[in-house]
Amino acid sequence: MDQLQEKISSLDKSRMPVHVAMIMDGNGRWAKKQGFVRSEGHAEGVSTVHRVTKLSSDLGIKYLTLYAFSTENWNRPSEEVATLMYLIGWAIERELPELLRNNVRIHLLGDIERIPEEPRKKLFFARDATAHCTGLQLNMCLSYSSRWEITYAARKLAKMVVNGEISVDAIDEKMFADNLTTAGMPDPDLLIRTGGEERISNYLLWQIAYSELYFTPVLWPDFSDEEYVDAIIDFQNRERRYGKTSEQVQNNE
Ligand code: IPE
Ligand code: IPE
Ligand code: MG
Repeated sequence: MDQLQEKISSLDKSRMPVHVAMIMDGNGRWAKKQGFVRSEGHAEGVSTVHRVTKLSSDLGIKYLTLYAFSTENWNRPSEEVATLMYLIGWAIERELPELLRNNVRIHLLGDIERIPEEPRKKLFFARDATAHCTGLQLNMCLSYSSRWEITYAARKLAKMVVNGEISVDAIDEKMFADNLTTAGMPDPDLLIRTGGEERISNYLLWQIAYSELYFTPVLWPDFSDEEYVDAIIDFQNRERRYGKTSEQVQNNE
């Protein structure tokens, strides 16, 4: 058995994360280290997306949420934005047959209308083509930021109140969550950020209220299957207390 298989078999199958979220950071620094232009780092990063999706699917993880492009990333140099948009369209088209084979359903989270038409069409095509898939639910966060999402939800709820569809007092945490892009999905159990920064960068602020955070210095293109499994092993060694005492948790109270 190789090292990866050994690590996988050491996982506690009864304590797998249901939902894993990732901040895929470090493509630019990876490219710079090799003497390449930043875009080559993004192209290499696509292979990691492919591997991480496959492994999540094989491990039986139900939801994988990937931060691919943030609202703030629109402020990058226009050539880099253009390359990223091209890559996103190219990658989704190329990956679609395998996603279908693996029963993976694509969800698009973010202000997708801002994505240029060509990649946007490919994204919508992949989303619709995988709508029947019941395996891994793959959330691609594109033109996404948490403050955008929360503001959007607040606006929707305010309109419903004004139109007399709901009362102000009907707005509770559940209704708020049901108006976020992750409506109906469980919150992430584990959030992994590659690339060494220890910040959230406007990602899933509402949803990660009780997620376990895992930061690794490994740059996204170098993030291996083994490192992914290491993060899950680390997660399995944590005690999630949700405000209770350790004794309460251990006694299942
Ligand atoms: C993450 O890698 C990919 C995106 C944000 C689109 P970066 O491009 O941020 O890489 P670094 O952080 O500059 O190394
Ligand atoms: C976060 O990475 C966004 C994505 C991974 C898509 P950034 O590289 O944009 O984050 P900051 O700017 O370092 O916080
Ligand atoms: Mg970065």
